[in-house]
Amino acid sequence: MRRLHLNAFFPFGPIYVWDELERPEQYYEFDGFAQLARTAERGLFTGVFLGDSQRLREHLGRITDTAVTGRPDQLVLFSYLAALTEKIGFVATLNTTFNDPIDLARRLATVHTLSHGRAGWNVVTTDNAWTGENFRRGNYLDHTHRYEHALAHLRTVQAYWDEELGSASHPVLFQAGESDEGRDFAARHAEAIFSRYLDYDQASAFAADLTARLGRVGRPRSDLAIFPGAKITLGDTRAEAEEKAAEFERRTWTDRRIRAVLESVWSRDLSAYDVDGPLPDVGPADPEQTVTHGVVNSRDQPLRTVGAWRTLAAERGYTIRGLVAHLSRTAQFVGTPGEVADRLAHYVRTGAIDGLNLVPNAVPTGFDEVVERLVPELQDRGIYPAEYAGSTLRDNLGLPAPVAHRIPTEARS
Ligand SMILES: Cc1cc2nc3c(=O)[nH]c(=O)nc-3n(C[C@H](O)[C@H](O)[C@H](O)COP(=O)(O)O)c2cc1C
Repeated sequence: MRRLHLNAFFPFGPIYVWDELERPEQYYEFDGFAQLARTAERGLFTGVFLGDSQRLREHLGRITDTAVTGRPDQLVLFSYLAALTEKIGFVATLNTTFNDPIDLARRLATVHTLSHGRAGWNVVTTDNAWTGENFRRGNYLDHTHRYEHALAHLRTVQAYWDEELGSASHPVLFQAGESDEGRDFAARHAEAIFSRYLDYDQASAFAADLTARLGRVGRPRSDLAIFPGAKITLGDTRAEAEEKAAEFERRTWTDRRIRAVLESVWSRDLSAYDVDGPLPDVGPADPEQTVTHGVVNSRDQPLRTVGAWRTLAAERGYTIRGLVAHLSRTAQFVGTPGEVADRLAHYVRTGAIDGLNLVPNAVPTGFDEVVERLVPELQDRGIYPAEYAGSTLRDNLGLPAPVAHRIPTEARS
C-alpha cells in the first residue's frame, strides 16, 4: 500500500518565523532542534533532513546576517538528537565534490551505529561557487565530471561501509540534483530523491521520468521514494489558513531580507530603493562576475539574472517585494486538515510523491499542528501508519537491502 512519509526539513534559509523574531539566536540552540525532532517523532515522521552548506555566506563583502548562516555541523547535531530519540531517522546532505570519501563514510557510519541504523546520506554534487571558494578550489569540476567523481566517491564510501557495517546495513541513500546526469545517478544508486516538484502535474511528470529511468536499470518505481520540499499551513477554514500563510510570509520577508536578495545579484548597496517600488534603475556592479557571494545559482551571470528579473517584473507588474515573493515562494499546502489530507492522499495514491521534506513555518513549534491535526486525518485515509514499522530508517522507509547489494554493478555503471 502506498503511504506518505514526512521528513522534518530545516533548510536554514530566510524562510522562518521564529517564535520570537527578536531572538534569532535561539535557532542555534540545540533545545529548539530537540523540540522539533521530538515533536516529529511523536508524529511518526520518518526522518530529520538537513541541507548542506560548507561556507558562511557573504553579503556585500561581509558575512551575511540576513539569513541564518552559522549552521551546526549536521552529523554533530544528529549525534545529539539520536541520543534523545528512538525511531526517527537522520538524513545528512553531504557533497561528493569537496568531502573526502573515507572521512565522510566514517562519520556517517558513526552516526548510523550510535543511532542503531537510523542514518541516511543525501548525496549531492554541489554547484555553488561559494563552497568551492571555501575549499580554495573555485567551482573546480565541470558538471559532467562532478557526477563521474560522485560515483567514484560513492563506491569508496560503500566499500568502507561493507567493511565497517556489513553489506546489509548501509545508511539509506538520498540524492538531490535534477539534470539528466543527476536523475540517472538517482535511478542507479539512490533509494530516495529530494525533488523540487510539488505542483501536481510537475510531480507526476517527474515521477514518470524517474520510473522510466529506473526501468532502464531494472528497478521498480517502489525502489526510489520521491520527496519534494513543502510547507503546510492549516486553519479551521481555508480562508483562515490562507491568512496564516500570508502572515508567515510577511513576518519572514522583512524589508532587509528582500533587499538582500537583490543585493546578492547587484553586488551593491540598494538601501536607497524602496522595496515597494520598482526594481533598481542601475545595473549590477560587476556584470561579469560569477556569483560567488550570494544564494543565486552559480551558473547565472548577474547581467542575465537582472535581465530575466526585469522582464518578469515588467510582465507581472511586480514591485521589488512582489518579485522576491515570487522567487522565494516555497510550494505549500494550505487549507483545513481534511482538505490538505485529501490532496496529499491523491498525490500518494497516484504515485506522484512518496513523502515530503517538510519545512516548519516556525521554530520550534512549527510541526505541532501537523502532528496534532493533520497526522490523524492522514491515518484516517489509510496513507499514514499508526506506529513505526521498525527501528531503522531503512525499515521505516520500507526499503529492502541496500541497492548496492541488490542490483548487478554492470546494470548501474
Ligand atoms: C532539491 C534540491 C536540493 C539540493 N540541496 C542541496 C544542498 O543542500 N547542498 C548542496 O550543496 N547542493 C544541493 N543541491 C544541488 C546539487 O548538489 C547539485 O549540485 C545541483 O542541483 C546541480 O546538479 P544538477 O544539474 O544535477 O541539478 C540540491 C539540488 C536539488 C535539486
